[in-house]
Amino acid sequence: MKVIFDTDPGIDDAMALLYLSKLPEIELLGITTVVGNASIADTTRNALFLRQKFGLVAPVVRGAEFTLDEVVKEEPAAVHGHNGLGDIDIPPVDEAGLHAGTASQFIIDTVRAHPGEVTIIAVGRMTNLALALRQAPDVATLTKQVIIMGGAFGYQGRSGNITPLAEANIHGDPVGADEIFMAEWPVTVVGLDVTHDIILDSDYLARLADEAGENAELLRQMCGHYAKFYMNVMGLSGVVGHDLLAVTYALHPEWFEVRRGAIAVVREGLAVGQTALWPAERGGVHSAWEGRPHHTICVGVDGAKVLEHYHSAV
Ligand code: BDR
Ligand code: CA
Repeated sequence: MKVIFDTDPGIDDAMALLYLSKLPEIELLGITTVVGNASIADTTRNALFLRQKFGLVAPVVRGAEFTLDEVVKEEPAAVHGHNGLGDIDIPPVDEAGLHAGTASQFIIDTVRAHPGEVTIIAVGRMTNLALALRQAPDVATLTKQVIIMGGAFGYQGRSGNITPLAEANIHGDPVGADEIFMAEWPVTVVGLDVTHDIILDSDYLARLADEAGENAELLRQMCGHYAKFYMNVMGLSGVVGHDLLAVTYALHPEWFEVRRGAIAVVREGLAVGQTALWPAERGGVHSAWEGRPHHTICVGVDGAKVLEHYHSAV
């Protein structure tokens, strides 16, 4: 499976990258970066660092610094640390892995070079994808599928994380996200409805570090910071592996329960970034929803299978 990974590393982004590096079924074509968990300079530096650490050969391509709603909002350092990777020491990175040009152009060129074959896994703000769509609308029909970590649709009683209504990736660029959902390409959304079933507790992370060596130990160190946030703010006894679940979906969609329908994002106001599904089975839509294509959202997952798969892969 040919994959472009669009990311804002980010601790759970790092978990997903380690996973991608271990899956023989996946041919990683590029790692495109976006502002989000840290500034664009830091997420790009982090991607280069992780690429080198995890022995990846795919290039890193720097992406959007500003989102389409033109509102600058960085995530609070409390979640991913000041450097985006839990404030671990990051040595100077080798810039040889950095591809010249922009992430959106890279997405366009790569998808056009492999029509119908590329899966885009997007686990940050949707800005690079939306820019690619604006510049080259044919990208929608040429992409095999888009898998997004983002959103919260109210299934399993799950609501937002950055606000009571909105999930962080969608909240970070609600306009970009809504444009993704208005396009005619097959999109699957892996949102908080399912990612909160993927809790990596300290025993799990310690076992991973014992059995999988240096890189898993690095993850464990990053997670010290992340765990404090989940414990103090969310009352959880482990960290949530949001982004890795989008990778699992690419390989094992049969482990997920899904719904189909039209998706919309609230673009401004108090509920900005809120996502909603108009289920296909409900039939005829309100005029404001007319013309929106149907996509897929995940509403349930076999979390135990995912954690076992991640462990055995890594
Ligand atoms: C998402 O937001 C980011 O903080 C994480 O990396 C993940 O992609 C979770 O809401
Ligand atoms: Ca992310």
